[in-house]
Amino acid sequence: MDIKNLQRENIKTLRPYSTARDEYKGQASVFLDANENSYGSPLPENFNRYPDPLQLDLKDALSKIKGVPIENTFLGNGSDEAIDLLFRAFCNPGKDNVIILPPTYGMYEVSANINDVEIRKVNLLPNFQLDLEGIAEAIDANTKLIFICSPNNPTGNSIVRTDIETILANFNGLVVIDEAYINFAKQRTFIQELTEYPHLVVLQTFSKAWGLAGLRLGMAFASSIIIDILNKVKAPYNISQSTQDLALAALQNIGQVNDWIKTTVAEREHLAKLLLDLPLVQKVYPSDANFILVEVADANGTYDALVDRGIIVRNRAKVTLCEGCLRITVGTPAENEILISALKSLTN
Ligand SMILES: Cc1ncc(COP(=O)(O)O)c(C=O)c1O
Repeated sequence: MDIKNLQRENIKTLRPYSTARDEYKGQASVFLDANENSYGSPLPENFNRYPDPLQLDLKDALSKIKGVPIENTFLGNGSDEAIDLLFRAFCNPGKDNVIILPPTYGMYEVSANINDVEIRKVNLLPNFQLDLEGIAEAIDANTKLIFICSPNNPTGNSIVRTDIETILANFNGLVVIDEAYINFAKQRTFIQELTEYPHLVVLQTFSKAWGLAGLRLGMAFASSIIIDILNKVKAPYNISQSTQDLALAALQNIGQVNDWIKTTVAEREHLAKLLLDLPLVQKVYPSDANFILVEVADANGTYDALVDRGIIVRNRAKVTLCEGCLRITVGTPAENEILISALKSLTN
């Protein structure tokens, strides 16, 4: 598969910005090459210097956890940056198209619209799995990307693995699997399959299980050809020094993160049972993520009544296939209790 040929015409020939740090990489004592403040920074750290454009120390630590080599790893300002870069690097505006599978994460569509790229929507089936025939029909010679979110937001389910493999075996554009919620799932990640599929991109994030949504750090894992293209198109210093330092420190706390994952999954199952017992709840969808999709008798009314009590959930009532549904993030036991008693009070 000729991945390089999938690039946008102008990206194929792009000469990327060459940073001062790209041009000199050795050990030196006097750096007068980047117009930094040579005197220091008001902060105690060495923030007067530009950060490593390729975040190699952080990627090295990450590769030990993920088992994915550095050359197959891209880091972005949230996985949202990787999503946007995939459009910018691979989709010719006004000519190419991408396939998204609603109901799903909203940024794929927003990024497509920002980049003036046609969206072809193939709704999930009523069981929230892939409509393989519909997808096959929607693909044409200008289809560059397919976004598969698994576990899917907002439905919470994982996509059947063999269905994803069918797409990987038959589609010649890039298959983007968004695994933002993979840590909460029973299904295995696809990052081990990268060597088999040069057109596979796996997105993960520090915003969910890692508890670092405020840091803005996302990961894309793919063949080195794809990673090199993303690095060519990204802003030179896209991950700040503070983000690199803090993420490196956070990686030392993997034990705590694993404990939170176990607690969240246990609490999710407990919350699902409690929700199911409420008369206003009509359906609780099984979840492989850190949230639960719940169908209620009156989604708008329930949403408003929760807001009145200071409890904010996500109203998905207007979303295709999620009519009448609220999406509820799994909270702490105390938060979940507050939610359940508020919902009980609405029932009475
Ligand atoms: C499926 C999915 N992908 C990506 C993201 C965004 O992640 P990040 O915070 O890394 O930009 C979200 C956030 O809600 C999400 O639900």
